[in-house]
Amino acid sequence: MIRIRIPATSANLGAGFDCLGLAVNLYNYIDMEESDKVDISSSDGTWVPTTTENMIYSSAEHLYNLCGKKLEGLKIIQENNIPMTRGLGSSSACIIGGLVGANTLLGSPFSNEELVNIASDLEGHPDNTTPALLGGIVTAVLDENKVYWVKQEVQNALKFVAIIPDFKLSTAMARECLPKEVTHMDARFNLSRAALFSASLLQGKYENIKIAVNDRLHQPYRIKLINHAQEVFDKAYELNAYGAYISGAGPTMMAIVDGNDNDFVVKLRKYLGNLQLDGWEIKELSIDNQGTVVEYR
Ligand code: HSE
Repeated sequence: MIRIRIPATSANLGAGFDCLGLAVNLYNYIDMEESDKVDISSSDGTWVPTTTENMIYSSAEHLYNLCGKKLEGLKIIQENNIPMTRGLGSSSACIIGGLVGANTLLGSPFSNEELVNIASDLEGHPDNTTPALLGGIVTAVLDENKVYWVKQEVQNALKFVAIIPDFKLSTAMARECLPKEVTHMDARFNLSRAALFSASLLQGKYENIKIAVNDRLHQPYRIKLINHAQEVFDKAYELNAYGAYISGAGPTMMAIVDGNDNDFVVKLRKYLGNLQLDGWEIKELSIDNQGTVVEYR
């Protein structure tokens, strides 16, 4: 039996739509071994698909097929800590978990470089799957079916505070609301800010982050799908966040906060309580630089 640990991810980081993402220390776990049947369960009571349509299983099967091997079955036990359909990379975690698990069971025929591309083929957006596999902050560009990427490790004590609404937002719906075309001015606005983000994060120029997370390609459209989002962003800045953005396709919002700030979460929690958003969750996270890890049991 192997145990695979996959981090949650936060994609886009404001202006880096479809190209920037980072991994955070919130993990799903998958126990996996070969079997003569499909035996899928969850250890935490979360409902999971138990047929070959299960995304972990189908990703593993895809990798077996790429090796020309038939997959008879797998025993899979899922522990799901990444909230589903909330913009924290739960689908990517399933895809990466399935691919890395299968690759390990087969004796690692594929390198990480190859897995980055296989995962992107399955998911479509390398800004989530690549940091889920590699950790750190990743810049990933998909060009003619190949992902060109850079992973950078982040050594800082910043907190990434995930504000997780109690409703789901599908990526498909959050992409449908985007315009087909944007102006040259808006494209330029985003290019400059996306470039500023990772350089500022890595060099510790945190005062730039507030500017770097501003975006004109997706957040102005998606924010309308997330009740109370503008109020939460305003409050985050009032409480001295370095920046706040919609995580992935939403509805989770991420605030980047000084590592020594112990008041932010207390005050934000109180604020959500005043808005009677008691079903919303707040998680204090930090960057994961390791990515997916496998342990033999
Ligand atoms: N970059 C993607 C989006 C992330 O924002 O739609 C979700 O997969």
